[in-house]
Amino acid sequence: MRGYGGEGWNRATMTIKELLANASVMLDSLPAEERSPMVLSIASQVCKKTIETLYAHPNEPVTQEQWRRIRRGVREISQGKPLAYVLGVQPFLGLPLYVSKDVLIPRPETEILAEKAITLVRGRACPLTVVDVGTGSGCIILAIAKAIKDDPKLAGSALFAVDASARALQIARKNARFLELSERIRFLKGNLLEPITTPVDLLVSNPPYVGEREIPFLPPALLAYEPKEALIAGPEGHEVLEVLLRQAGYHLAPDGVGLIEIGYRQGETAIKLARAHFPDGTISIAKDLSGNDRILELRR
Ligand SMILES: C[S@@+](CC[C@H](N)C(=O)[O-])C[C@H]1O[C@@H](n2cnc3c(N)ncnc32)[C@H](O)[C@@H]1O
Repeated sequence: MRGYGGEGWNRATMTIKELLANASVMLDSLPAEERSPMVLSIASQVCKKTIETLYAHPNEPVTQEQWRRIRRGVREISQGKPLAYVLGVQPFLGLPLYVSKDVLIPRPETEILAEKAITLVRGRACPLTVVDVGTGSGCIILAIAKAIKDDPKLAGSALFAVDASARALQIARKNARFLELSERIRFLKGNLLEPITTPVDLLVSNPPYVGEREIPFLPPALLAYEPKEALIAGPEGHEVLEVLLRQAGYHLAPDGVGLIEIGYRQGETAIKLARAHFPDGTISIAKDLSGNDRILELRR
């Protein structure tokens, strides 16, 4: 027997090829094409070798200690834990971000928002005040900070990251230190825009936007592993957005811009709510790569 707990796992040495065969058995609840990439990602981190190197040398042995750690990670995956939490890292626009159960795993949809923000700030001619509300891992503000780091016309920009969760802020600060961006961002604990005392040129946010009614339809792994306070906004899903827009009505500078991620069916509601607080503003919805409503864009 070569399956989980069988002969393969108990021998003194094991090759990469054998490791893949054994671990794939443990992951038999996953689609076949996902198993090897998952195992190789874990093996790559444990063995400190690229996936390409592991793939190119299938007969290389792994040590018993490596083998024990890889098996633990594969077991966690087999129990439903997302790969990013097993590895403790998730890339976001090319930045390696540390993630733990205290922060949402940054999503590709949010990269679209961050890219729009980067394009916008790069187009400005002088320093800006940028606020990321609900920063979580810090993904959005860190991507912006990195993009404008060496831009002399934006030197002196004030970047803020707010979160209601002290634990999330710890992770965001840790990521900022790792990326050597700590000096450029102020991390503040508080409710949405409340801790901000200066007019905001650019508001970026991926707030919680899932409604309590949607909970039964969410993927089980999302509910089991990701922080509820990062996901659930209230009974309908647009409650946090509504408060954020009300606050933005006071905080956004005269030519300020807001880029706010929304749920895939919230476009119409988001426009109505934004119109209530920005009656003369320019308001639109940008779609994600699947054609779903995804980003509320507003200009005062
Ligand atoms: C959907 S997550 C987004 C995290 C990160 N920005 C991202 O895109 O991956 C929402 C974040 O908002 C924070 N949050 C929820 N309610 C908040 C509030 N009233 N004020 C500030 N932050 C809040 C949560 O702790 C969580 O980190």
